[in-house]
Amino acid sequence: MSADLLSQVRRRRTFAIISHPDAGKTTLTEKLLLFSGAIQIAGSVKARKASRHATSDWMEIEKQRGISVASSVMQMEYRDCVINLLDTPGHQDFSEDTYRVLTAVDAALMVIDAANGVEPQTRRLLQVCRARNTPILTFVNKMDREVQEPLALMDEIERELGMGVVPFTWPVGMAKHFGGVLDLRRDQMRVFSPGEDRHHDDDEIIDGVHNPVLAERFGMSYEQAAGEIELVREAAPAFDEEEFLTGHQTPMFFGSAINNFGVKEVLDALVELAPAPGSRHAIQREVKPEEPKFSGVVFKIQANMDPAHRDRIAFLRVASGHFERGMRLKVVRSGKELRPNSVVSFLSQRRELLDEAFAGDIIGIPNHGVLQLGDTITEGEALQYTGLPFFAPEMFRAVEVADPLKTKQLRAGLTQLGEEGAIQVFRPAAGSVLLLGAVGQLQFEVVAHRLEHEYGVRARIQPVRYNVARWVTCDDAKELQRFIDHNAHRVAFDAVDAPCVLLEYAGELRAMQDNWPKIKFHALREHA
Ligand code: G4P
Repeated sequence: MSADLLSQVRRRRTFAIISHPDAGKTTLTEKLLLFSGAIQIAGSVKARKASRHATSDWMEIEKQRGISVASSVMQMEYRDCVINLLDTPGHQDFSEDTYRVLTAVDAALMVIDAANGVEPQTRRLLQVCRARNTPILTFVNKMDREVQEPLALMDEIERELGMGVVPFTWPVGMAKHFGGVLDLRRDQMRVFSPGEDRHHDDDEIIDGVHNPVLAERFGMSYEQAAGEIELVREAAPAFDEEEFLTGHQTPMFFGSAINNFGVKEVLDALVELAPAPGSRHAIQREVKPEEPKFSGVVFKIQANMDPAHRDRIAFLRVASGHFERGMRLKVVRSGKELRPNSVVSFLSQRRELLDEAFAGDIIGIPNHGVLQLGDTITEGEALQYTGLPFFAPEMFRAVEVADPLKTKQLRAGLTQLGEEGAIQVFRPAAGSVLLLGAVGQLQFEVVAHRLEHEYGVRARIQPVRYNVARWVTCDDAKELQRFIDHNAHRVAFDAVDAPCVLLEYAGELRAMQDNWPKIKFHALREHA
């Protein structure tokens, strides 16, 4: 292991922002880039979101695909660190994709709208982070508005998300009377001034959270805040690094992203608190990030804009070693060799991203189907990383071609769309009609459109009676086969031939579990 590799790993921070739409994710992303110097002018990230409000029409999403590849990973340097920020798709119908992105990060930044508190999308995403023990930092945004009382918010976050909240800053007033934040760790107050122009660290600082100047200047707002921090100090747990790193405690910051306020604290916290890339589990062994040999895992596949070429970009999280352009790599699943000469460039201030990468970094490799979701790439070692989740679909459709001569194209198209993670495709144990499974209605529309435009197949997508799916496994192979034979009319196989049982009602599942005690039913399949 070289000292250089270790120091490169230690200075990496890879995270995603999770939030409910409109909480301020785009604004904060932009401000983080601005503060780190990765972009010069505000507006570049925001611009790509301009039409997103109207995106119940998926065509808009399609239009943005090209643009979003470039900005789906943003790399910036701040202090001594290289920060990788992974974008998570905004539309909730694409939440499966978001879940997979969350497997590629070492920490998450949760943005909460201080007026709305914890909202549904945040709650769902948080569950995924909790399941993986991902450390979470919390940013409470929009303090320049009329919002909930900070104590109430803190309480809500604690209750809803089931984790300890440790305030690092505390707001003085809100809306018109928002005076700034008390920095409880640095024992100072950072005074708020509105405006989007500043992106240097030139906030006015007043030393001492008990400085008498504060009461004079901020009056009632300060008195209230001072009372609240006393309460918080008595009631809230002290910050415990171990609790934070295992996702049981979240440090909380207040600010206003649009006014560039509180953004620097978040960047500092990412650098100081968020973990560097750690070891990753492969089936065969635990892999350390500073090991000299390169390895990585595909967590996202994005089809390219040009339908004629059907090329796709595989997003790989580097798990160990040092990636160099043109190096000889192996796709462990298929044994195929890969020699990525062109690597997709993301929004980055560092030119080297194109040429080299270390653990924690993300590389985009264009390919024509050689790479699939969950694939492990190495320099030759047979390693398979685990943990890429597939969720049991909640909606099903049958798919048939209008023109029977196009059956082959339909199968080819669906195989590719399935590999990309756009939809899940199931082959029933009995019968020949393929089934599609999704977590959101929009996915079916996307698939129908793409089948027609990219594969020249007009598909008939029709409702079926299933609403619940569970993957089935059993330690006893014979018993599993007996289950499949007995339930052939409602068993289907997914893209990797894992058997799944399809049901109409959740109630049926309970009855089935009672009848087949040895069979295990899973709502989530981890790629293996
Ligand atoms: P999202 O990516 O999480 O969906 O949210 P986004 O950043 O787009 O922010 C949603 C709205 O909230 C935007 O207003 C944005 O300007 C506003 N916003 C973000 N941070 C703050 C803040 O600190 N204070 C206040 N008052 N507003 C904030 P919009 O009207 O939807 O869009 P726009 O017209 O401003 O672009």
